[in-house]
Amino acid sequence: MQASHPTRHPGSPGSSGFGAALPPTALVAPCDIVVFGGGGDLALRKLLPALLYRDADGQLTADSRIIAVGRSPGDTAGFRARVAEALHRHAGEVPEAIHQGFLQRVVYLGLDATDGTALSALAPHLSDQPGRVRAFYLATAPDLFGPIAAALATAGLVTPDSRVVLEKPLGRDLASSCAINDAVGAVFSERQTFRIDHYLGKETVQNLLVLRFANVLFEHLWSHAEVDHVQITVAETLGVEGRAGYYDQSGALRDMVQNHLLQLLCLIAMEPPASLDQDAVRDEKLKVLRTLRPIRGGDVAVNTVRGQYRAGAVAGLAVPGYAEELGQDSATETFVAIKAQVETWRWAGVPFYLRTGKRLADRTSEIVLQFRPVPHVIFPQAPRANRLVIRLQPDEGIRLHLMAKEPGPGGVRLKDAALNLSFAETFSGRLPDAYERLLMDVVRGNPTLFMRRDEVEAAWRWVEPILAGWAESGERPKPYPAGSWGPSAAVALIERDGRTWAEDIG
Ligand code: BG6
Repeated sequence: MQASHPTRHPGSPGSSGFGAALPPTALVAPCDIVVFGGGGDLALRKLLPALLYRDADGQLTADSRIIAVGRSPGDTAGFRARVAEALHRHAGEVPEAIHQGFLQRVVYLGLDATDGTALSALAPHLSDQPGRVRAFYLATAPDLFGPIAAALATAGLVTPDSRVVLEKPLGRDLASSCAINDAVGAVFSERQTFRIDHYLGKETVQNLLVLRFANVLFEHLWSHAEVDHVQITVAETLGVEGRAGYYDQSGALRDMVQNHLLQLLCLIAMEPPASLDQDAVRDEKLKVLRTLRPIRGGDVAVNTVRGQYRAGAVAGLAVPGYAEELGQDSATETFVAIKAQVETWRWAGVPFYLRTGKRLADRTSEIVLQFRPVPHVIFPQAPRANRLVIRLQPDEGIRLHLMAKEPGPGGVRLKDAALNLSFAETFSGRLPDAYERLLMDVVRGNPTLFMRRDEVEAAWRWVEPILAGWAESGERPKPYPAGSWGPSAAVALIERDGRTWAEDIG
């Protein structure tokens, strides 16, 4: 697989790692991308627009194809009309001629993808050129991953150059995740399996590695010696939109913490990898997951808070509560706050406060490293401790808060001022969507930014006792009004340690 197109395509397997600098227009190997759940929200809103953008960047070869497979009957002409509409909505800035060319790549097949015989209908749409990359993207419910993989094998469609892409969530606990991995693993090797956590494809998340390991400034500060605590917030203003059916079975812990927040924590807490080799990075992340102190039994009530939004107002607009959106009562959490501890020499005694929720006051994903106060104060006014704020979205950037003397009369007045690296001001061009990079990495065969099986399972191992603790307590999630920062218990979680959530620091 690695050496399929070594000379024609600089972006082909083997030539790229996370760190390989490729020209932005490097072609990836010719490929057939099959999207199961092809008519679904993820495909129309994210995957197809991402592929269109990469087509516009000149990365797809002329003969690369996209086959959408869905359960609903339908034909290619009707599907292309739907795709055209979605692309205009989500990728409107791409020139029209490229839209038209892209649509010609797209084919639709309505069939039951768990039936190997039915799936044979896919064969005529796939190139049998040797070495051709086949990417099977399973944007379906996770309980279909195993059956679809088996049906692909039955239909004889899995070649050595095939890869399978699994959307999160991978199961709903450790046992179901293992069962899915086993079922998919019976058909695809680990090398062929790409488990998506789209946060890893975000430019600002990839930049965490660069910030930490391409600069000498921070490494000496990056430990319990100088860091007081870390906050990781992923706040959304949206509710559950059209996904209430899925979400109610999942909740914020499974939907966001088990994957996105823990991956962010890993990138902040991991030791420097020896290289950017796929396993060097993932080995270090895995070590972090394994050193997280388990939260179980009585600790669950002390170190976690779960909430559910009630009716309220977001950006001045009245919005219904979760149960009203769902149409029934529910004990599913739409908010979680957790105090986590990484039990290593580097991070001893440094809490990591994690927080995520829907219908919060603002859409913001941010990591804050709060440094320790100066050891001895010589000013009449105590300096505020330094803070490194890594803003993942929106207004992507990095701010280093320092104390400065406010100019002018009035003695030495200290002022918190920030060195501000704004992505929008510093870099020209658009910020690509996470799925663009990830889809191209699938075709290139580069799994560095994907989750390895052992990582996913280690994350479930840490999350499970929290789920169990909540189930045992029988306590319902604490209510919070839509448009707030979550239940007051989340404020108490950090304030009882004498600390404050970042938005309250100002
Ligand atoms: C998804 C979750 O993985 O991430 C959604 O299933 C959530 O519930 C989404 O809204 C957030 O992603 P982003 O890229 O908008 O921050």
